[in-house]
Amino acid sequence: MHSHPEAADTLIYGAMLYDGTGKPPVVRDVAVRGDKIAAIGNLSNWIAEEIVEADGRALAPGFIDVHTHDDTHVIREPQMLPKLSQGVTTVIVGNCGISASPVALRGEPPDPMNLLGEREAFRYPTFGAYVQAVNAARPAVNVAALVGHTALRSNHMDRLDRAATPEEIDAMRAQLEDALAQGALGLSSGLAYASAFSAPTEEVMALAEPLAQAGALYTTHMRSEFDAILEAFDEACRIGRHARVPVVISHLKCAGPSNWGRSVEVLASLERARASQRVGCDCYPYDRSSTTLDLKQVTGDIEITVTWSTPHPEASGKRLSAIAGEWGVTQQEAAKRLQPAGAVYHNMSEDDVRRILAHPATMVGSDGLPNDPLPHPRLWGTFPRVLGHYARDAALMPLEEAVRKMTGLSARRFGLERRGEIHVGYHADLVLFDPARVRDVATFDNPRQAADGIEAVWVNGVLSYRDRAPAGDRAGRFVPRGAIASGDAAARSGETF
Ligand code: ZN
Ligand code: CU
Repeated sequence: MHSHPEAADTLIYGAMLYDGTGKPPVVRDVAVRGDKIAAIGNLSNWIAEEIVEADGRALAPGFIDVHTHDDTHVIREPQMLPKLSQGVTTVIVGNCGISASPVALRGEPPDPMNLLGEREAFRYPTFGAYVQAVNAARPAVNVAALVGHTALRSNHMDRLDRAATPEEIDAMRAQLEDALAQGALGLSSGLAYASAFSAPTEEVMALAEPLAQAGALYTTHMRSEFDAILEAFDEACRIGRHARVPVVISHLKCAGPSNWGRSVEVLASLERARASQRVGCDCYPYDRSSTTLDLKQVTGDIEITVTWSTPHPEASGKRLSAIAGEWGVTQQEAAKRLQPAGAVYHNMSEDDVRRILAHPATMVGSDGLPNDPLPHPRLWGTFPRVLGHYARDAALMPLEEAVRKMTGLSARRFGLERRGEIHVGYHADLVLFDPARVRDVATFDNPRQAADGIEAVWVNGVLSYRDRAPAGDRAGRFVPRGAIASGDAAARSGETF
């Protein structure tokens, strides 16, 4: 017994604690002091400003959205409700080869950089300028950032439908090295997109070389998620081996009906590769994808819904086949007339989605598109959907494993130090949720809806969301790269990546 009670800012009593490592939950009290977790255990002799009775509800590390396109959104809409309302406390931006920084545009942003905003949204010629802007905006969630290969290409190349010259690669490398020195997590690529497809493997290899020394990583929206997926996966692994860096395959999926069912062989390849190098993946829990309207994906064999179109805003929410019918043209022709535009593609099989999501090497990432007027529901629904629909209702995995995929695994892979697990001395990013009620509410027709069952969210010790509404201050900050897969967290779990 302490003779003097210990004092905390916040005490959470009687929580079912999911610590982010994948261990089964235990009932504990948790004390928060300042921005850190001060104590865990039976804390009945403690006192605090704020007392929360968890009554057996789940307390987990704040969720980490490892795959976002929130680059400019965290500054424009710092309340970040689409993410905060899911229990997300950290977003990783700069995915798929597109990042808001370092970028100096010469004209309109090239596809798919336009997913991040219009021309005036790109105001960060250096990574340092972006870091400053994030901290000045003080978003409600923490922000960590990758540098996009396509963004670097657009800075230094007059056209993107060719390979970069050695001089251009040098200039891109210098910019990447500067960003790494200022805390960037690594390099992302989007080799499937026309703006990067002409980049040979060697271009990315050369660019990835400075990553190892910085302790950074390589993430990729692979060159193909369709029939050539295994070749594309092999290319990603070769880049990782060449640069001696960890690889994250973004939004792993088997796209296109001719590819359905191939998650078995794709995951077998992943497991083989993991025996000799650090490689993992993320995915979102839906069987439909979303990005800009891509003529290559207009094949007539899947349902495509237009979400936005600059020349035809009235097309939002309509099927591409219906628009083509109205106009009396082919779907290809309609898709051309709608450009620039965005779409949702019904291009995955549910079995593949489940198999990939359940794999132990898979993290959860939303790939949400916050600038889309009719966003894919993954923007508001990803994390509660994994917890409620897939872990609880479909029994695809235990809840502690679902939590690990959105917290501990993610923090370790990306080098987010002292986040993603609940231990004394870690940052107090926490989410209290009701495991019996948690569920995604956002739908394709009505996508801007907060989840049910997310009861309270703390970011850096500050209560930031409660009772379906923002609470108090915004307390997020820019999070620079820490050490990847090292330190006590990795040692405890025995995993390296
Ligand atoms: Zn992507
Ligand atoms: Cu993406």
